[in-house]
Order: sequence, then structure tokens, then C-alpha cells
Amino acid sequence: MINALQTIQKQAAEALDSAADLRAIDDLRVRYLGKKGELTAILKQMGKLSAEERPKVGQLANEVRAAIERLIDERSAAVRAAQLEQRLIDEKLDVTLPGRAAPLGKAHPLTKVLDEVKEIFLGMGFSIAEGPEVETDYYNFEALNIPKNHPARDTQDTFYISDNVILRTQTSPVQVRTMEKQKPPIRVIAPGRVYRSDAVDATHSPLFHQVEGLVVDRGVTMADLKGTLELFVKRLYGDESVVRFRPHHFPFTEPSAELDVQCFACHGEGCRLCKGEGWIELLGCGMVHPKVLSICGIDPEEYSGFAFGMGLERIVMRRYGIDDLRLFYENDLRFLNQF
Ligand code: DAH
Repeated sequence: MINALQTIQKQAAEALDSAADLRAIDDLRVRYLGKKGELTAILKQMGKLSAEERPKVGQLANEVRAAIERLIDERSAAVRAAQLEQRLIDEKLDVTLPGRAAPLGKAHPLTKVLDEVKEIFLGMGFSIAEGPEVETDYYNFEALNIPKNHPARDTQDTFYISDNVILRTQTSPVQVRTMEKQKPPIRVIAPGRVYRSDAVDATHSPLFHQVEGLVVDRGVTMADLKGTLELFVKRLYGDESVVRFRPHHFPFTEPSAELDVQCFACHGEGCRLCKGEGWIELLGCGMVHPKVLSICGIDPEEYSGFAFGMGLERIVMRRYGIDDLRLFYENDLRFLNQF
């Protein structure tokens, strides 16, 4: 029996030595020390021993149990340490690696300049008005004093949805919609998309953007129009900007004008940027036609107003020296990232 106990201790020690993980160690614990284990099996036979042998064998058995338990603890600790070591190697972090930067989006150049334009007019007490892009013939033309067969219709190549429903060719219909639902004083700008069936080239697109403006109140004069728009241009392009008003014709304003800004590149001398003109056309404007006021239910004897409309793309192109309109719509990041 003493031999058997010593053999068990020896075998257990050898087996534990080569146990590779905690599970294998636990299996060995069950095998040697468990209720049905080898050591227990021997202890069960103690009854057969003489009273003299029993305490000796009993003491040895206890020693063997203690020795195996110690070996198990030691081996477990060693395996755990090895596992931790391995994890530290596997999960090693290189803190010197450069971080992965999250790319940051930014505003499209059209949005950026439009935000500036809005900011300038909001600062002058204007608010923002909106209207539908799918518009009726009435609002886009008729109410703006552009009757059927009026030559102005030819210059605005209209997308027709039906005889009376179109894609708006200008933001001017928002003037009419605003005056219909709001009594003077009115001070609004209406930025938005407009559509014309133009072939795409460097300066034309079937979709582009305009910013409309409308002021109606008692005693509004051409001087208010000139003062407001000159201030706008100076805010947008700098205090040194020089503007001029040139007589023009629009059916919905009388008198009408176009506002030019002196070429920043040549200061009026004439160069490539201004195509030798010395001036660059910026927007159309005028005093709201009395007929338009009447149509919208505003008494032209009591009220007067001025209006203006500008193409956003052109303003942005001039601002950044962009020479091809198509770049705005291609979403090429190499272009967009420059702003
Ligand atoms: N709607 C005109 C266009 O698309 C621009 C315009 C001119 C708007 C004069 C106005 C204005 O409000 O008064 O060509």
C-alpha cells in the first residue's frame, strides 16, 4: 500500500508536469483526488490494515494528498502566468502608430457663399422666404406681368410638366407668393433652385440657383434699392468694390436696372476676367411694377417696393476664380476640398 501511494504521487507529479492548460490540471485533480479517484480508492482499503499499520499509512496518504494538492496549485499558477504572458504578447499595442483620422466633411462652395449672402441680408433685417420648385405658369410668369406670348418667355427655356405646371425658371414667383400672404412691410430674400432647359456647358446648367430679394413698404424708392444693393456688394466683395447701375428691362419691375461690379482684376481697365468690359454683371433689379403689386392685392398708390435677383453660381465662380460651372455638380473631392 505504501508503494501504491508513492507510485500515485510520482505519476501525478509527472502527469501534472506535462499538463498544458487548466482543464487538463482539473482532470488530473479529479483523477487522483476526486471521490472516485485513485487516492480515495486506496484509502477505502485502509480497513484491511492492521491497527499498527493504519496510522502510518494514513499519515502517508495525507502527505501524498497534500503533495499532490501543492503540485496542482503550483502547476495552475504556472499555467496562468504563461497564459497571461501569451495574452500580453498577442494583444500588444503599438502606441507609436499614427491614429486613424476621421475625415471631416465641409460645406459645398455654393452653400458657403449662400450662407454669407443670407448672413448679410439677415443683418439688414431681411428674413428668408421659400416657394415650390414645381410651380404654376401663373406664379412663374402671369402674375409677374409676363403674359402668354411675351418675348421674355422665349429667353427662359422652360421645362413643362403640363400646360400650366412647370419647373420654376426663376425665384421671382416667391415674390408673388410672399405678397399674397403677407402685408407690407415686407423684407425677404428667397434663395433656391431654378430650372431651364439649357444644354450643359462651362457656363450653363439646366439646374442652377438664384437668390431673390423683395422689399415692400410705404415710401420705398430707387435710392433704397441702390443703397441696399451697394452695401450688399461691399459686404460680399469688400469695401473697395465699385458698383454701377445700368438701365435694363424686366417685365415685373419699372424702372429696371442691372447692377455691375467693377472688375477686381483690372479695376475697370478691361481684362480677360471681365472679357475686356471692365465691369462684371452681378444681378437684375428694379422697382416692383405697380401691376404686380395690384395682382398680389397690394395697393400701388399706398405702397412701393424694390426687387432683385441674382445667380448664385456666377457669384461663387467670381469669388473663387472658378471657370467651369460643371465643377459644382460633379462632387469631385479634389475640387471640393479646396474650399
Ligand atoms: N428673375 C430674373 C431672371 O431670372 C432676375 C430678376 C431681375 C429678378 C430683376 C428680380 C428683378 O427680382 O427685380 O433673370
